[in-house]
Amino acid sequence: MVSLLDVRPADHVLEVGFGPGIAIAELARLATRGRIYGIDHSSVMVRRATRHNAAAVRAGRVRLVHAPVEELPSFDQPLDIVLAVNSLGFWHDPVQRLRELRGLLREGGRIVIASQPRCPGATAETTVRAAREIQDRLGEAGCTDFRVETLELDPPVACVIAR
Ligand SMILES: C[S@@+](CC[C@H](N)C(=O)[O-])C[C@H]1O[C@@H](n2cnc3c(N)ncnc32)[C@H](O)[C@@H]1O
Repeated sequence: MVSLLDVRPADHVLEVGFGPGIAIAELARLATRGRIYGIDHSSVMVRRATRHNAAAVRAGRVRLVHAPVEELPSFDQPLDIVLAVNSLGFWHDPVQRLRELRGLLREGGRIVIASQPRCPGATAETTVRAAREIQDRLGEAGCTDFRVETLELDPPVACVIAR
């Protein structure tokens, strides 16, 4: 999914719900002059992701915070990209959360929400519906310029990119 985002070396990026920190590592590899932030409400995941990204955390290039998206910490600069993979479905009042996340972006920054439906019997049609729902929520939060990408896994992953 990170490969869809055209991450530039000076980008500052936030991932919400980073889990084991796989995307964080890839973002840190690409944004060599930027700062990568992550928040996750699970202390287990913060520990795992910190271990997985130990060198970049030590170097101050990656900052992983134990916090729920409902209580955003402050960041040192406006962000170029905010992303969340398989996380939005767990948030309380997701449209309000998306509004708050949008407020962290610099002018023209991007917000990226990906979801692989995991309900029993999920199909490509479930993914199409998920993409539509994500797009609706982003629209309600004031985002525009939608682009929908699909990763052909089973079931496919919907990835909605907005400004
Ligand atoms: C299904 S996992 C996805 C992890 C990772 N993004 C991935 O794709 O491998 C969902 C993650 O979102 C985090 N999460 C769920 N609700 C959250 C919330 N309200 N605030 C912050 N993190 C949350 C969970 O702790 C978990 O790490």
